[in-house]
Amino acid sequence: MNKTKTRRAHREGTADQVFISRSPEETRAHGEAIGRLLTGGELIALEGPLGTGKTHLVQGLARGLGITDLPITSPTFVFVHEFRGRRPLAHVDLFRIERAEDLPELGILEYLDSPWVVAIEWADKAGQLLPAERLTVRLANQGETIRRIEIEASGPRYQTLLEALVKKK
Ligand SMILES: Nc1ncnc2c1ncn2[C@@H]1O[C@H](COP(=O)(O)OP(=O)(O)OP(=O)(O)O)[C@@H](O)[C@H]1O
Ligand SMILES: [Mg+2]
Repeated sequence: MNKTKTRRAHREGTADQVFISRSPEETRAHGEAIGRLLTGGELIALEGPLGTGKTHLVQGLARGLGITDLPITSPTFVFVHEFRGRRPLAHVDLFRIERAEDLPELGILEYLDSPWVVAIEWADKAGQLLPAERLTVRLANQGETIRRIEIEASGPRYQTLLEALVKKK
């Protein structure tokens, strides 16, 4: 896991960090490192084009939460899969959502402000309907097996989480 670039605080209350992953397993390892730090109630918003590794990162998150009922696949048709580990995980995929306004009727917002860790693929499709305070993970393709993973922490809770993550690397 190579840490690249330096941290920068570009908006007040926001910090970010960029990592490079060179394999699917390395992307899972980044997710696992985040998962180990979660205490319940966090929102992890995943963004990035098709096939950039969002699900792989969530597989790692699950591993870090001690979830053993794998496999973790994209919950594309049912929108949400629930897993029980050290903390419960709701794995959401909004790829097929047609309009952000449809989000409330999917029952996904109920997981927020609860002990559930909520990891949402295609979170950008929710527009402004998700809380601004979150960890946003943006994945981008930089070659066949190379992915850029940008992690942005918004709000004090998530900044503390990101600081702890950086210390572990
Ligand atoms: N460094 C890497 N990290 C993650 N995946 C990688 C990497 N290199 C290659 N891959 C491949 O990219 C694909 C990532 O698939 P994954 O389902 O995790 O993406 P996704 O972003 O969830 O896609 P979707 O938008 O369809 O849900 C897999 O086929 C995986 O083997
Ligand atoms: Mg996916």
